[in-house]
Amino acid sequence: MDDSGPQRRWFWATLVLSSVSLVTLVFGLWELVENRFFRAVDYVTLHYLYITRGIASSLLLAFWAAWYVLRQRRRTEEELRRSRERYRGLLEVSPGAVALYDAALRVIEWNAAAERLYGLSKDEAVGQPLSTVPPEKEAELREFLRRVAGGQSVLDAETLRRDTTGTTLEVQLSLLPFREAGGQSYFLEVTSDIRERVRMRQTLLELEKLTSMGKMAAGTAHHLNTPLAAMLLRVQMMRERNHQAGCAGDLERLESGLRFCQHFVQRLLEFSRQVPLQKQPQAVEPLLRSVVSFLSPPVLAKRARIQLELKTANGAQVFADRNQLEALFSVLLSNALDAIAPEGTIVVRSRRLAGDQLEIEISDTGCGISAADFPHVFEPFFTTKGPGKGTGLGLAIARNIVREHGGSIHLRSHASEGTTAIVELPLHKGTRGDAGEQS
Ligand SMILES: Nc1ncnc2c1ncn2[C@@H]1O[C@H](COP(=O)(O)OP(=O)(O)OP(=O)(O)O)[C@@H](O)[C@H]1O
Ligand SMILES: [Mg+2]
Repeated sequence: MDDSGPQRRWFWATLVLSSVSLVTLVFGLWELVENRFFRAVDYVTLHYLYITRGIASSLLLAFWAAWYVLRQRRRTEEELRRSRERYRGLLEVSPGAVALYDAALRVIEWNAAAERLYGLSKDEAVGQPLSTVPPEKEAELREFLRRVAGGQSVLDAETLRRDTTGTTLEVQLSLLPFREAGGQSYFLEVTSDIRERVRMRQTLLELEKLTSMGKMAAGTAHHLNTPLAAMLLRVQMMRERNHQAGCAGDLERLESGLRFCQHFVQRLLEFSRQVPLQKQPQAVEPLLRSVVSFLSPPVLAKRARIQLELKTANGAQVFADRNQLEALFSVLLSNALDAIAPEGTIVVRSRRLAGDQLEIEISDTGCGISAADFPHVFEPFFTTKGPGKGTGLGLAIARNIVREHGGSIHLRSHASEGTTAIVELPLHKGTRGDAGEQS
């Protein structure tokens, strides 16, 4: 406290002045009493009176000084207590996690926000070494401490801390010097949780990357599409003509490579599609049948079977872009087809749900998705199908389409048991009341 010097001087000045006034008053009064009542007393009595006056005024002075000093001390203590309470109150309501520690990183103060952020109670933290700094950030903290000790503050630095479970947290940190009245120096660390902000920033960055990638992909794909189709046609014709010439195998490989390039380009075009949707009421059942019949060449090649169980959604319509719905179901069906073993079965079910929703399920008994891959399957370009086989764009396209139609999509899968893709779409108004089922 900077003003303690003047305060102390003021205290001693008032004490001395009040004591001098008291002594003067006592002596004055005594003089009056002596003049009035003891004028005629002898010398010895007068002597005793003088001594009594001295003792009485000294005692009075001592009592006065003691009372004055004690009163002042009580006041100071009360002020100190109040200011401590205020300081603790401020510390507790502070939204940032506050940790006060000394140069040896021993914690002196720990507020409620710090308890919440790090999962460490005040009793556990205070008096112990600071335990929230991950090993890889220890050197950084040392550098911060050096800067603060040199008179600089560290403000709003983004760094990492860890909680009691060992989870790493992204935090914004400010480190300031803190000097107590007694002259003891500490470091005041204020951190706030910025995990959500970091996540948003990453999403934005990814979105930006995806948008520019999408634009680039759309341009590239557009230019590659026509020459690829022409090359594919030529290779097919050459293969038919040179059936006997011994290069059929090479041509077949060339054709399958070209087919993949065409598939990739088409997927890129679908993924980065910027054409506005042309939504109309679409009956789902015939649309699913037409997608299934469109896929019959690869289904036949695998001797697979697609079983349709669509009766519970008879007549159900959704308000959708037909091309997009076809693309959606063909992505899901081709994934199921890739997953099943030869002669396997895929089941397509649809049913109406409460809340005017239509649910379409595409189930296979194929290889399933491993727990490690499951969180990534909707990410663009994530594929387990190896080079020249999968683009990793199918499910990303499917999710975009479903979102653009106000619906949702999710997968249920157990490795080695199979996968079910579940799509929910809002029913078109015209069919909402028509919830009857036919069998
Ligand atoms: N029904 C399924 N069974 C097993 N794995 C699946 C199934 N559906 C998707 N997956 C997994 O999800 C990954 C991503 O699927 P997505 O459709 O996005 O790309 P892809 O199928 O690899 O490529 P493309 O669709 O271009 O052929 C697949 O590589 C596969 O590992
Ligand atoms: Mg796919």
